[in-house]
Amino acid sequence: MIRIKINNIFIEVPDGTMLLKAAEQLGIEIPTLCYLKDFIPSSSCMVCVVEDKYSGKFLPACSALAQTGMIIETDNDEVKKLRKNAVELLLSEHVGDCEAPCKRACPAHTNIPAINRFLAKGDFKNAAKILHKTKHGCAECAAPCEKVCRRKNIDAAVSIMQLQEFIFSQKDFKEIPSSSKSQRIAKLKFNSSYGKMRDNEKPEFLKEPENANARTEPKEIQSGFTADEAVAEAKRCLHCDCRKADICKLRLLAEKFEACQRIFELTERNDVSKIIYPENVIYEPQKCIKCGICIQITEKTEEIAFTFIGRGFKVKIGVPFTDKISKALRKTAKECVDSCPTGALAFYKS
Ligand code: SF4
Ligand code: SF4
Ligand code: SF4
Ligand code: FES
Repeated sequence: MIRIKINNIFIEVPDGTMLLKAAEQLGIEIPTLCYLKDFIPSSSCMVCVVEDKYSGKFLPACSALAQTGMIIETDNDEVKKLRKNAVELLLSEHVGDCEAPCKRACPAHTNIPAINRFLAKGDFKNAAKILHKTKHGCAECAAPCEKVCRRKNIDAAVSIMQLQEFIFSQKDFKEIPSSSKSQRIAKLKFNSSYGKMRDNEKPEFLKEPENANARTEPKEIQSGFTADEAVAEAKRCLHCDCRKADICKLRLLAEKFEACQRIFELTERNDVSKIIYPENVIYEPQKCIKCGICIQITEKTEEIAFTFIGRGFKVKIGVPFTDKISKALRKTAKECVDSCPTGALAFYKS
């Protein structure tokens, strides 16, 4: 057995025990990001860092083994600072919006891209459940959502106001009891922000919308969109939001540590790239923290497993170039999406 001290408490653990596990046995929680139970730790994020006062070293608790004599501190000021730095470093090369610009600008904080996804499928009832009326309704709002709509970079803003007015006018909306309308969840303050769309990124953004045409105008201006027009217009949405915004571990840790995305300014940011898999999965390399969990999952069961491709800043997951990328997620799509700690792998059609 190995005897160590963690936060001033002695514990004995079997040889080969990770510090994370030893701390867990004492009820001490250490944050993790790239680590997942039962997987080989990549120790790539350093969010789980702890200090060994005996050796004077800072160690990743997810992979460092307990060794006799260690005096571990899991939450002193230096450790907290290093964890915050670790998250800020990851964020510095992270490209993506946690929440779409339209949602951020809406005074009611309405989840506009989620509504558009339901509208695009003709599911007006579920679209109506998400909609929150602003104090006066959209008709009297200055539509800040449309001013910041990212589709403007390609042709014209999505007609968000008209779409919302279409829902307000539906009997689906009027008949939904307020209790079953979606409750606004507490806003997370941290929002990764993507910035300006580059010309070479436009085709990437256009991989998601089903309608590449110009803005839909209602035939009868007075009566607003018909159902077909609303569906067509909703299909123009670029879905700028992140599908894992409420559960992404990177975002939750950034919030917890009050991290700032722009502390470590890079001279060049990664381009946005979207890889769409037939299994309704979207992979966005610029949100990947290179934990390798999806690689380990696909290695277990898939005919072709993921691997890291490229070097340094531009490394991403993929399959060897002779193999078809669509073979990699046939059986493991759900496990990969659920296990990916960020929005890098997500289901994109909700
Ligand atoms: S991956 Fe996480 S941090 Fe990045 S945009 Fe999505 S929710 Fe935000
Ligand atoms: S394209 Fe869609 S998600 Fe993006 S800002 Fe416009 S309405 Fe919102
Ligand atoms: S896609 Fe997700 S699971 Fe795979 S390496 Fe990147 S962050 Fe990890
Ligand atoms: S969780 Fe330990 S290094 Fe990432």
